[in-house]
Amino acid sequence: MSMIEMIKDKARKNVKRIVLPEGTEPRTVAAAAEILKEGLAEPILLGNPEAIKAEAEKQGVDLAGICTADPETSEKAPAYSEALYELRKTKGVTPEAAEQLVKDPMYYGIMMVKSGDADGLVSGAVHSTGDMLRPALQIIKTKPGIKIVSSSFLMDCPNKDLGEDGLLVYADCVVMPNPTAEELAYIAIAAADTAKTLCGIEEPRVAMLSFSTKGSAKHELVTKVQEATAFAHELAPDLLLDGELQFDAALNPEVAALKAKGSPVAGRANVLIFPDLQAGNIGYKITQRIGGAECFAVLQGLAKPCNDLSRGCSVEDIVNTVAMTAVQAQ
Ligand code: ACO
Repeated sequence: MSMIEMIKDKARKNVKRIVLPEGTEPRTVAAAAEILKEGLAEPILLGNPEAIKAEAEKQGVDLAGICTADPETSEKAPAYSEALYELRKTKGVTPEAAEQLVKDPMYYGIMMVKSGDADGLVSGAVHSTGDMLRPALQIIKTKPGIKIVSSSFLMDCPNKDLGEDGLLVYADCVVMPNPTAEELAYIAIAAADTAKTLCGIEEPRVAMLSFSTKGSAKHELVTKVQEATAFAHELAPDLLLDGELQFDAALNPEVAALKAKGSPVAGRANVLIFPDLQAGNIGYKITQRIGGAECFAVLQGLAKPCNDLSRGCSVEDIVNTVAMTAVQAQ
């Protein structure tokens, strides 16, 4: 069974309510019907109900059983606006501004999740990553004990000798442009948690990647990864984590035997931590486009799950992301 089928199976076992703020967007409307049909979640579409209905009719999609809410006219809007004002007043948000903000489906959806009226949120078919992330960071905030929000890419590779039967978790490829050593340590711990809870990897083995293996090069960029490794050991002493390691030393047992003898991770890593967003974002795209891996992105570290889509996403991408969000919410 593929990783995504395994995640879908898990989602069906404990159905969660997932809000889709871009509720009039054609791919989102089609995805909502598919999500309900496959029993992956209870989708909630936000937007003008007439516009949602018109889009569904245009596509010949049946929306029976799917909840909708219109942020412009919703009776929940005053309560959300008051709660938003309380959360953000020290940041300069006035009661009038909060009232306007909750009419924006993105903020309305985030307030649904914050107040427990939805279990998770998926957006980004229209919004940019930054516009989707900012309200989640401002309002949902991080899980207790986690300082930053970051992301993991689940890479399902055709070569089943890699990682965990071909599955590798890459982080961070979306959020933190230039993490400090301490932030990199938090990214590593969050990615190990994603590997365990979402992908079912019982033993995450985390490699802190660099262009150096175990001191083979000396540079401030290498020092940052070494410091991050030390921080991560302090924060999570039981986690199998090692660094700094080059990509090949992390994955290939023969290279590991030469360059990182005795490492508990080298040659058999299943979670790869990139030193910054340039490396992570380029790395996952190389694995996808040249390596032929299927890839699935999730945010990690948020107190409640919210996930971003690419603006080029397909209906299937939305369905998959909703299934992953539902499992994160369980
Ligand atoms: N974790 C937790 N909180 C955070 C984080 C984080 N990583 N980043 C920002 N915040 C908080 C801030 O503390 C602040 O909270 P406050 O308002 O309560 O004080 C709030 O979020 C807003 O912070 P800003 O610094 O104003 O936000 P910024 O405008 O810098 O945006 C963002 C943050 C959107 C995450 C930014 O870092 C970003 O754009 N990252 C890159 C996204 C991107 O383009 N990725 C690549 C493309 S995606 C792809 O290829 C799949």
